[in-house]
Amino acid sequence: MKAFILSSSPRRHGNSALLAEAVRDGLVEAGHEADFVYADDVLSNFLRDCRQCRRADGSCAIEDNFGQVFLERFLPADGFITATPVYWYGSSAQMKAFFDRSFCYYAASYPGSGDVIQRMMGKRIGLVLASEETFPMVAAGIVSQMQEYTRYTRGTFAGVVHGIGNARGEVARDPNDPIGQARRFGETFFSRHASDYQIDTVRGGRVWG
Ligand SMILES: Cc1cc2nc3c(=O)[nH]c(=O)nc-3n(C[C@H](O)[C@H](O)[C@H](O)COP(=O)(O)O)c2cc1C
Repeated sequence: MKAFILSSSPRRHGNSALLAEAVRDGLVEAGHEADFVYADDVLSNFLRDCRQCRRADGSCAIEDNFGQVFLERFLPADGFITATPVYWYGSSAQMKAFFDRSFCYYAASYPGSGDVIQRMMGKRIGLVLASEETFPMVAAGIVSQMQEYTRYTRGTFAGVVHGIGNARGEVARDPNDPIGQARRFGETFFSRHASDYQIDTVRGGRVWG
């Protein structure tokens, strides 16, 4: 399987990037392809008003690498893992911009939008994040965003790895071993049990069989 990993902190070798790298290592160890992208290499602008900057042929006029990466690397992936620091109880602006900018390609004013929508759907989704504070709700906004993104795109939310640290690389000293968790998360990303029942979901009485 193919996974696309977005590392969205501006700190290139920071805590969330270390977790993202561990996920990548786990995926590769399990025999999957893992494509790793730093958001800062791809995005130079926020979403604008498409009516002002979309070209006559329907293409997006923002001149950075987002379009190429989104169309040629994100869309073909079976799974999407996004890594972010907690900034103000939300994600990095880079991670948000990645989602916002996808609008340029799934909006009806983009000629290939129908195909883009189909290819955005049904992915396995994962989230890895780093924060200074430990209280569980510090990341609730980001978890909720990803849960809703997964629901909206008819995907499967495979889980969250949360490491604690502030100084660059400090997450490696977190006694809960989030780097080890991230590696195992990568290894099992495409096979791990993930459930989100509805009242009429057919199921047995046990989870682990
Ligand atoms: C602008 C900014 C806002 C932050 N907001 C929070 C916050 O609300 N809660 C928190 O626990 N940590 C917060 N932090 C700390 C980072 O989440 C923490 O340092 C994290 O490890 C950084 O990850 P990175 O190395 O991947 O960038 C903030 C850091 C910055 C720079």
